[in-house]
Amino acid sequence: MSNYKDLIFDKSFINGEWTDGTGKKLEITNPADGTEVAKVYNHDISHVKKAIDAAHDAFPTWSGKTAKERSGIMKKWFDLIMKNKDEIAHIMALESAKPLAECKGEIDYGAGFVEWYAEQAKRNNGSTIPGYTEDRRVKVIKQPVGVVGAITPWNFPLAMITRKIAPALSIGCTIVSRPSISTPLTALTLVHLAEKAGFPKGVFNMVIGDDSSAMGKELCENPKVAKISFTGSTRVGKILMEQCSQDLKRLSLELGGNAPLIVFEDANIDDAVEGAMAGKFRFSGQTCVCVNRILVHENVHNEFVEKFVKAAQNLKIGPGLEEGVNFGALINTKAVEKMQGFVDDAKEKGGKVLHGGKKIDDHFYPPTVITNATPEMKFAKEEIFGPVAPIFKFKTEEEAIQMANDTVYGLASYYYTNDLNRSIRMSEQLEYGIVGLNTGLISNESVPFGGIKHSGFGREGSVYGLEDFVHIKYICTGNVK
Ligand code: SIN
Repeated sequence: MSNYKDLIFDKSFINGEWTDGTGKKLEITNPADGTEVAKVYNHDISHVKKAIDAAHDAFPTWSGKTAKERSGIMKKWFDLIMKNKDEIAHIMALESAKPLAECKGEIDYGAGFVEWYAEQAKRNNGSTIPGYTEDRRVKVIKQPVGVVGAITPWNFPLAMITRKIAPALSIGCTIVSRPSISTPLTALTLVHLAEKAGFPKGVFNMVIGDDSSAMGKELCENPKVAKISFTGSTRVGKILMEQCSQDLKRLSLELGGNAPLIVFEDANIDDAVEGAMAGKFRFSGQTCVCVNRILVHENVHNEFVEKFVKAAQNLKIGPGLEEGVNFGALINTKAVEKMQGFVDDAKEKGGKVLHGGKKIDDHFYPPTVITNATPEMKFAKEEIFGPVAPIFKFKTEEEAIQMANDTVYGLASYYYTNDLNRSIRMSEQLEYGIVGLNTGLISNESVPFGGIKHSGFGREGSVYGLEDFVHIKYICTGNVK
């Protein structure tokens, strides 16, 4: 690995130039111990406006390039990301506290979108429709929407950006990216590599700033922006939707979740434990698709609980860069306090803590297993976004379905069964955008990721992920002699 510090940048990237912002620099800290990792320039909405203007000006040229030209630049970008994987992983681990192995996994995952859409760029095919009168010919084409505002969270500092912008760039959209202020360093590295790959100026802009509300509002209300793609909380998603309504702006929202993982009595319990561990404790529970509620059939409850607790006890807790660590710190002290709130509430209502349940310090909260969970407990309805694993009991399939769907959210769901008929019934009845059968991991660049209900709308990844960035235009030619 070369020196990761060579890939740390402190300026924003607007119209092909590295730009320092206004006022005091912002301190980026390591969530594992609060130490400073770097300082970055702060930017405000005047910079967002400049970035939007630049993306708007660059759109005709970028969308006018051939798909092969865009694809070539994206392939170079992919190669550069992979070539610098170790350095980027190091930076990501420092600013997010994500264990190093998971950081490397995220880089493979995130770069995968760049590679996949570089290939797909050449297949943005339209269609022809038989003319509806003898002298008419009908053609349908797909055109890029224009400038895309991509607002992304801290939990996947690289993959959430590429998942949005790779499809958009591949078909000719231009970008204003506003990453989370908790993890801007990985994001800026990504832009640096994009610059090296040869994206023309103005095509990919990134603005770092701490006034997220004002920056988001500008992106939503500026008429030069055609589309907003947001990953984050349902609360903020609703605000953005309201702001976008003035302009009837296209919008994709990947919001909160409350994923159930259901273990039927006919399941392979060892597989279910492995899936629950991966689905619950990936990045210490801080992903939108993390398991929120574990529902276990009463006949296999004790066996599952015993094995799950044992597996949770074996997790190695520590800073992201420490050898062998597979369970890191939470993003901030507020998140640690939030976990304690869930646990205290559950205990008051009869929950039994079998492992964890008490904060380690202001940065770390241990993997926590709670049985006797009931629908009255806060975590039954709210997104946990952390390492608390509540276990509920059920008796019948109908009850399991009712419990699983008893939430406003509809992002990911998981279940374990070896009964073929049940597996089909369940996949059809779970009210979620994503269903994992006998697996706790469902993310990949080649699949449509997204939710229903209060988890939002739009899909990211796969061919479906392109649809959010195109206008469909129908061209009717008449009077054909
Ligand atoms: C998320 O937490 O929003 C994304 C999770 C994933 O891509 O697997």
